[in-house]
Amino acid sequence: MSCPLRCPDQDYSQLGAEEGMIYGEYLMLDKILNSQRMLSAQSDKPVHDEHLFIVTHQAYELWFKQIIFELDSIRNLFTMTNLEETQTLEILKRLQRVVLILKVLVDQVMILETMTPLDFMEFRGYLRPASGFQSLQFRLLENKLGVRKEHRVKYNQDYNTVFGNDENAKNLIGNSEKEPALSDLVQRWLERTPGLELDGFNFWGKYKEAVECLLKTDKADAEAEENERIRKYKLKDVEQRQEIFESIFDPSVHEALIKRGERRFSHKALQGAIMITFYRDEPRFSQPHQILTLLMDIDSLITKWRYNHVLMVQRMIGSTQLGTGGSSGYQYLRSTLSDRYKVFVDLFNLSTFLIPRSYIPPLTNDMRSKLCLIWGGMTPLTNGDSKK
Ligand code: HEM
Repeated sequence: MSCPLRCPDQDYSQLGAEEGMIYGEYLMLDKILNSQRMLSAQSDKPVHDEHLFIVTHQAYELWFKQIIFELDSIRNLFTMTNLEETQTLEILKRLQRVVLILKVLVDQVMILETMTPLDFMEFRGYLRPASGFQSLQFRLLENKLGVRKEHRVKYNQDYNTVFGNDENAKNLIGNSEKEPALSDLVQRWLERTPGLELDGFNFWGKYKEAVECLLKTDKADAEAEENERIRKYKLKDVEQRQEIFESIFDPSVHEALIKRGERRFSHKALQGAIMITFYRDEPRFSQPHQILTLLMDIDSLITKWRYNHVLMVQRMIGSTQLGTGGSSGYQYLRSTLSDRYKVFVDLFNLSTFLIPRSYIPPLTNDMRSKLCLIWGGMTPLTNGDSKK
């Protein structure tokens, strides 16, 4: 029987493939399947669960590798200044893949939880000083997404010292800190959102007017309230919302929030994201909107992984033992669950700036046809809905 990995019509000699290569050779299984070295097996008391511990970590590292592979290709696509719709679809497909892999990684924690703390204790001593803290690929993944040194919790800001004299690791980390991360590239792309041009549709000007109108109406409604307690409550609410909106309309407030690490996106990128969210039903914004959703999914899933991991750590070693990597263990990991590690935190917070559909500025005919994907563009409709 021929190998299912071989296509009968392909001339493999031209591809430089080894003659007669079969499944195990192609996948180099001799290397992968012979890499589960149980340290406890070298003693007189082999621990059954050490095998699961090794395989689980290796499976994680393989998936990290695939995610990095996808992320690098997505970052490449985003670097094109004239990103075309066909490429947006490719980005979408690859982001979807990353999201699915992360879902598997979140659930995979459960398999390791079938090991009891007592079993873990039997071989934990052999690991020292090894720890997931030293996972090069995990750090690359974080950096390539856009986690910055200054946003990491203090203990984690010197994360690269663990690579010691490993020049290759240090170079890879250095490059990943210097190269534009996915979050930088996404911002540049959002800044180019059609419709933001001041001399064109001027979305931001129109949105600001719509918000002012909404707040004015709400204030009038609050003032008309006869019950004093409810009136005060409503007026306070309008005042607070006014302040919140001020934080996006006043660029200096926005910059101050960026300095404090509470906001990450540039002012223009935020405008693009809000515009895409409002007009996501327009054909040209449909894929960009899905991209924004997937970016949030990535952040969410990594946070869920951190959460599942920290729960497992507490179950295995409690909340006071140090980690094998030298951190405070559970306490350190718990501190990484904050928004500091969410690179797309602004997308999560977009909901704060949404306004009711009836207040969303209507698209002009020109803008609508720009966002249309119908071949040849859209013919603007007259008042009577008849085509011109
Ligand atoms: C019995 C299971 C596990 C225990 C008890 C455990 C424990 C810990 C501890 C205590 C830390 C903090 C650093 C330190 O060692 O001082 C840590 C970090 C880490 N572990 Fe685990 N771990 C387990 C399984 C896993 C698995 C399956 C992975 C998958 C790759 C993993 C990946 C990581 C990563 C990436 C970090 C660094 C997190 C960060 O700094 O944000 N761990 N682990």
